[in-house]
Amino acid sequence: MNIGSVHLPGNLALAPMAGVTDQAFRVICREMGAAYTVTEMVSAKALCYQDKKTIPLMALAPDESPAAVQLFGSDPAAIEEAAAKVVEYAHPEIIDLNMGCPVHKIVSSGDGSALMKNPDLACRITEAAIRGSGGRPVTVKFRKGWDAEHVNAVEFARMQQSAGAAAITVHGRTRTQMYAGKADWEIIRQVKEAVSVPVFANGDVFTPEDAAEILRVTGADGVMIGRGCCGDPWLFARAKALLEGRPVPPLPTLEERCDTALRQFRMTCQLKGEHIACLEARKSYAWYLKGVRGGVKWKSRLTQLSTMAEVEEITRQMKEILGPQQQEC
Ligand SMILES: Cc1cc2nc3c(=O)[nH]c(=O)nc-3n(C[C@H](O)[C@H](O)[C@H](O)COP(=O)(O)O)c2cc1C
Repeated sequence: MNIGSVHLPGNLALAPMAGVTDQAFRVICREMGAAYTVTEMVSAKALCYQDKKTIPLMALAPDESPAAVQLFGSDPAAIEEAAAKVVEYAHPEIIDLNMGCPVHKIVSSGDGSALMKNPDLACRITEAAIRGSGGRPVTVKFRKGWDAEHVNAVEFARMQQSAGAAAITVHGRTRTQMYAGKADWEIIRQVKEAVSVPVFANGDVFTPEDAAEILRVTGADGVMIGRGCCGDPWLFARAKALLEGRPVPPLPTLEERCDTALRQFRMTCQLKGEHIACLEARKSYAWYLKGVRGGVKWKSRLTQLSTMAEVEEITRQMKEILGPQQQEC
């Protein structure tokens, strides 16, 4: 599929997830078959203030292409300036705009999914990003609507297309649903029918079969996968195989899970330093060990670790002790 002039070599994308889809995890997902990756959301205002913590959030890996940096904000002037900074610092092919974040802190400032209540401002945001983007395509990610009484994804998508959005991602839940209930794939189908730009369907893809089904039901051009690949980046390889009509590879062995968790940890050490990497390993290892018998004990041991050598050693022990018990889980 193509987004503006940018060609994507496949239609499986990694959804942006703050605190999850950092550079290390994005690299792993790409190796597994994600054709397109989007950074964690970056505050346009913070970028304009040259906030030191913000700049690393948008750093792409050397061969992370095609990729998007995602911005959030509700001030067109800040968005325009931030888009230009994104281009200058990170050189992504695409800039994505977050109009779907449901978190209170974000919507209370008028950002994220609050923009769905103000579609005219949302269009001005997109136009501003286009002005700042130096010709790069600007895409928009949003939800079904604000709440059950205000479902406006179809009209919002049409307006965004008119404002110049080069592609659209729809998460089939309202803001008030947060992550509860089931994602409504029917609304995504309606959006796809209403616009001519490419549409990514998003919400509740946890298996290769879900990926095939969401594409079938919605007619969308691509699928964006979020929570389903936390601890399971193999979902990309398995979904890709299914979509291409090849045999679906088996679930990863425990050894593969441990090796991948360790690789992600090592990359995080390089990018963020040992201290932060050890803290983040608690969460990422918990995901990689999801469903593993005896996993809880290892997860609690991980909370006591503070050096790279300790994490390396515990991973070796995990493989040695858990591996023979449970080759496949
Ligand atoms: C921990 C977490 C962080 C997220 N951060 C972002 C974000 O930074 N930008 C964004 O557009 N969506 C964000 N999302 C929403 C996801 O991109 C996605 O739309 C949502 O999880 C539904 O897809 P899924 O069912 O495949 O997870 C986040 C979701 C989660 C669970």
